[in-house]
Amino acid sequence: MMRISSLFTFCFLSVVSAQTVYLAGDSTMALGGGGSGTQGWGVPLSQFLTIPVVNDAVAGESARSYSDEGRFTSLINSVKSGDFVVHHRSMSAPRLTQSCILTSGIFFWFGHNDVSAGAVDNGKQDAVGDGYNITSTVTAANGTQILIHSFAFYIENAVNAIKAKGGIPIISSLTPDNIWTTTSPIVIAAGGRFVTYAQSVGVDTSITYVDHYDYVAQAYNKLGQTAVTAFYPIDHLHTNANGALVVAEAFVRGLLCGTSTLKNFVNAAGKAVPSTRLLVNESSFVVAV
Ligand SMILES: *[C@@H]1O[C@H](CO)[C@@H](O)[C@H](O)[C@H]1NC(C)=O
Ligand SMILES: *[C@@H]1O[C@H](CO)[C@@H](O)[C@H](O)[C@H]1NC(C)=O
Ligand SMILES: *[C@@H]1O[C@H](CO)[C@@H](O)[C@H](O)[C@H]1NC(C)=O
Repeated sequence: MMRISSLFTFCFLSVVSAQTVYLAGDSTMALGGGGSGTQGWGVPLSQFLTIPVVNDAVAGESARSYSDEGRFTSLINSVKSGDFVVHHRSMSAPRLTQSCILTSGIFFWFGHNDVSAGAVDNGKQDAVGDGYNITSTVTAANGTQILIHSFAFYIENAVNAIKAKGGIPIISSLTPDNIWTTTSPIVIAAGGRFVTYAQSVGVDTSITYVDHYDYVAQAYNKLGQTAVTAFYPIDHLHTNANGALVVAEAFVRGLLCGTSTLKNFVNAAGKAVPSTRLLVNESSFVVAV
């Protein structure tokens, strides 16, 4: 169950006039992670920003359930329109060119995840496919047939509602599991279809997309399988606090490499992430939190 719910792991941020960052996602982002001492990366993220982070991620949620349960609506209601100033966007090269992802699509090869439920709908699965208008008819627990929509449908509706209120949505791809290739080179396994879906939402709605999957994979590959496995005390999905920190750092690096105005709110600790954390070897990588 945890495994299925986790397949939805996008992050959705909105920078508003009150200078607040809202996060929406699942247990890998949420306070308390998946329980049993694990932690979501939305928690340490606040260490790296100069503005408050409101972590509205909830364990077990999918794009559809987050939408159907009214959580997007609540979040959208919290977002204030106003005077957020869109700062100058530097067109200069990212400061750490060698570690920024400058092309997209390099991780699109495999769809190793499938959130489809079995014969009975679980309230979380989305219609399979990359596109706003894709739908599917499924059998609810009470036996009735219900229409469900795609990942893009649920997310893009929220994105557009946030935009309408003057917020600035950002979408990131889900983060990797502790699953590695079995043949050399041993690296984090490729992202699945939800990485692709998240990027498509970014393109379709013209919002910033952070390829969080690949930034985390980059950090994990540098650390190596043994060190990364120590981040996963209960399963291959939920990190401990050290792992959450690495995942948050990877997100910050993604921000710094990109053009979102949220990068203007990365603090000194966040700006130090690429050089002091992700680019050093593993003995000095993991810091106490
Ligand atoms: C979805 O379908 C509607 C109605 O046919 C159409 O207007 C819209 O362009 C479609 N959206 C996408 C993203 O294909
Ligand atoms: C059956 O379940 C679906 C999904 O939860 C719900 O929308 C519908 O109203 C239910 N129908 C009845 C007759 O209870
Ligand atoms: C890793 O960093 C430590 C501490 O800076 C250093 O002593 C060690 O030689 C480094 N190892 C490698 C393989 O670079």
